[in-house]
Amino acid sequence: MAKTLVHEIAKNLYLLRIVDDNVKYFEALWEIPEGITYNAYVLKTKEGVILFDGWKEEYSDDFIKTLSEVVDIDEIKFIVVHHMEPDHTGSLGKVLDITKSKPEVIGRPMVKDMIRSFYNIEIKFKPIKRTEELVIGNHSLMFIPTPWLHWPETMVTYIKELKTLITCDAFGGYGVPHKVFDDEELDISQYLKGVKKYLTTVIGSYKAHIIKNIENLLKIKIEISVLAPGHGLLWRKNPSKIINYYYHLAKGEVKERRALVVYDSMYGFIDKAISTIVNILKKNKFNVEIFKFGDKKRPKMSEIISEASDSSFIVLGISTYENDLFPLMKNVLDMLIKKVNREVPVLLISSYGWGPVVGAKVLEILKDSRFKIVDVLQFRGLPNEDFEEKVKSIIDNVIK
Ligand code: FEO
Repeated sequence: MAKTLVHEIAKNLYLLRIVDDNVKYFEALWEIPEGITYNAYVLKTKEGVILFDGWKEEYSDDFIKTLSEVVDIDEIKFIVVHHMEPDHTGSLGKVLDITKSKPEVIGRPMVKDMIRSFYNIEIKFKPIKRTEELVIGNHSLMFIPTPWLHWPETMVTYIKELKTLITCDAFGGYGVPHKVFDDEELDISQYLKGVKKYLTTVIGSYKAHIIKNIENLLKIKIEISVLAPGHGLLWRKNPSKIINYYYHLAKGEVKERRALVVYDSMYGFIDKAISTIVNILKKNKFNVEIFKFGDKKRPKMSEIISEASDSSFIVLGISTYENDLFPLMKNVLDMLIKKVNREVPVLLISSYGWGPVVGAKVLEILKDSRFKIVDVLQFRGLPNEDFEEKVKSIIDNVIK
């Protein structure tokens, strides 16, 4: 059985957490050697049990077993579906199948049809059309829509009496925390790296919605004692830390002098140019993160775009390949536009054998994006003699 954890996080409210040991590529796309958890929650009330979300389908049996340790499954009266992505709803079919109490599902209006389409199940359903409160037993639940965090049907739940906000994808992160809460975790800054990567890869395309939803949540002025996401660490000592972290990342705000360098080098020509650039960056006190597509190894896309989300300068080195961009760097550009797309200066360098085509193509690809190309330096084979001077002048201008 996979590693599971049950913890009472507030009176009669339990975290049900599983570590997904099997996944290597989240959403079959993002490399996550640090792993991921799925967090569901269950609340015992005087009027029956309320289940919030679930786990991925392959862990349905584990979910039922873990859930049964805390509550009588036949006492589940409501199932709150905050978000339909199957990492949170995969176990829903099994739960509905075995509960004799025939729970009512609560979710945004779109959820009913999605459950039918995803799982071929007809449900008793209560749609949440706007922010609204529902009193169940001795608890008042406020459901707050948070569209595009991560999908259009997402919402969060605030349990008034417990001052607990259950947020599903929002404020979650990759990684397997050692403990349950932020005040128990030894290395929060390490954990936040997984949060940055998670936000960029999973919800990065919807940054404007992250900002809007957080501003909306702050307007409601709820007091949060526990912030409980669907992935990773729970926050009780400092819930505003994770809220602010999400907010500032979504805004693309950068405090440090940090450069991201991403390039390919088939035969070492671009390597030489990059080495010159990195030296100049370091002399100018930049922290530099380098990702190279070479013939010995390849970087992880999830890490490239994560670093791009808060770098103050980006250098792209792209070889010419069959009259076009080196294909793997074309993919990097595509992901940068989709998931990062922020106002940040970008220097492009390119090496060619017989035709300088990459510069114009990249300018065309980026023309509707927010990235600001500060210069394009193209050279045949090795960089030209004046390359170093040009780069110094470009970086001087970037710093200004
Ligand atoms: Fe964790 Fe969008 O699912």
